[in-house]
Amino acid sequence: MRLGVVGAGTMGAGIAQLGCAAGFETVLHDPFAAALENGAADARQGLERWAEKGRAAAGAAGLLETAAELDGLAGCDLVIEAVPERAELKRELFEALGAVAPGAVLATNTSSIPVTALAGAARDPERVVGMHFFNPPPLMRLVEVIAADQTGPEAVALAHEVAAAMGKVAIDAADGPGFLVNRCGRPFYAEALRCLQERIAGHAEIDRVYRLGGGFRMGPFELMDLVGVDTGYAVARSFTELSFGEPRWKPSPIQARMVAAGRLGRKAGRGYYDYDGDPHRPADPEPPAPDPAALGALGDAPAPAGADAELVRRGTAFAALAADAGLADCATEPLGGRAATGFALLPGAGLVELCGERDPAAEALAARAGLHTAWVGDAPGLVLGRVVAQLVNEAAFAIGEGVGSAADVDRGVELGLNHPRGPVAWSELLGVERVAATLDGLWRHYREERYRPAPLLTRALATGRGLAELG
Ligand SMILES: NC(=O)c1ccc[n+]([C@@H]2O[C@H](COP(=O)([O-])OP(=O)(O)OC[C@H]3O[C@@H](n4cnc5c(N)ncnc54)[C@H](O)[C@@H]3O)[C@@H](O)[C@H]2O)c1
Repeated sequence: MRLGVVGAGTMGAGIAQLGCAAGFETVLHDPFAAALENGAADARQGLERWAEKGRAAAGAAGLLETAAELDGLAGCDLVIEAVPERAELKRELFEALGAVAPGAVLATNTSSIPVTALAGAARDPERVVGMHFFNPPPLMRLVEVIAADQTGPEAVALAHEVAAAMGKVAIDAADGPGFLVNRCGRPFYAEALRCLQERIAGHAEIDRVYRLGGGFRMGPFELMDLVGVDTGYAVARSFTELSFGEPRWKPSPIQARMVAAGRLGRKAGRGYYDYDGDPHRPADPEPPAPDPAALGALGDAPAPAGADAELVRRGTAFAALAADAGLADCATEPLGGRAATGFALLPGAGLVELCGERDPAAEALAARAGLHTAWVGDAPGLVLGRVVAQLVNEAAFAIGEGVGSAADVDRGVELGLNHPRGPVAWSELLGVERVAATLDGLWRHYREERYRPAPLLTRALATGRGLAELG
């Protein structure tokens, strides 16, 4: 197997490293000498580190060749392109490769350009396929394999074979906006931006709720800063363009304003957070120690699969205390102006969201149950309930539209986005009823198509069958 990699940047260098580690003769090409040199050096260094750890053969770095000219890719069986995200550049490249490596399968690592539009430029569109790696390729375990409308079975089979030889989990995704994984991840950002826009909470508080309540490693705003606020904005715009205006995928005016102000995130020293040398936020503390008396009265009901049993116990204790104290359960319905304190809590969450009248007694109850708190504005599902409902809803649309299977949605989101669980698992943890009721609350509150339930979710609700079974 002779593998060609075009573009020696972040992704190309990582993919070349994977090719050598898999034992392929690997040719890396970049027309810019410095980029080629740096990319090859990164790949070699990575391979040496892997050889020390026994994850690659000692001589694996010797399999890497560099090519200053495209002609160096002659004789390749597979060429993976990782050049900048510009359709015209990629189309020209595929056209040129038809003459240089006429028998090769051509794979694109594009994140947002339809593979079908790129295949059209190739001499043999049947041999074009999407192989979408995640950043950084050597570490992230997932590859999405995308068949364009023109792609033949051989190209798909080769993409799977090569991904497997590189030690990746490969999933099939349809050729639509964001393919499977990035599409299913949209609400993670989109609902956070809506919460910020509506002043339900500030960016740092929303991030804290995602981490401590949702179990996400990073919140949406710190992640947007890391990826680049401009990159996130471009992705959101491409979703809108490719879908002719799907309301769930609209970019946020906040993104446009941040980009206009040059607040592009870490690379600019300033985004949602300031990066002036200190950590952008303090480390998260452990949850408070619970009062044994608050937990003592509980029976031993089994925790739902995939949830932290101790946190589920604490949540159950809090719900009992909250009911006694007359707090309003806002899991799916907002307070809507009632003079009360409301709360919402996901099963197994380490943080209770509170809304309405700022009664310190409510915080004390959460502390007794051993949970963090966050005060947020009143809206259906508060922050996390709304985010999770839309994550499940997006997945239900995607599964229903044949973008991928239910099992691949969860594997993809866990491995590609590092979420603590996939949307199908979220739907099982919360129950389809709660997800549907939250969406219904959002729909009645906003009257926006953005919150319409996916047909598959409605079917799951009507039949009592889960998304895993239906998808
Ligand atoms: N960075 C990510 O997180 C990520 C994740 C998944 C997919 N992608 C996709 O991977 C592709 C590459 O992204 P990246 O982050 O590695 O970009 P990058 O800017 O780090 O690297 C691009 C490389 O392509 C080279 N290049 C420019 N013109 C070229 C040409 N005509 N022929 C060959 N090489 C050329 C550049 O010199 C550079 O080394 C894009 O399509 C991007 O959407 C990126």
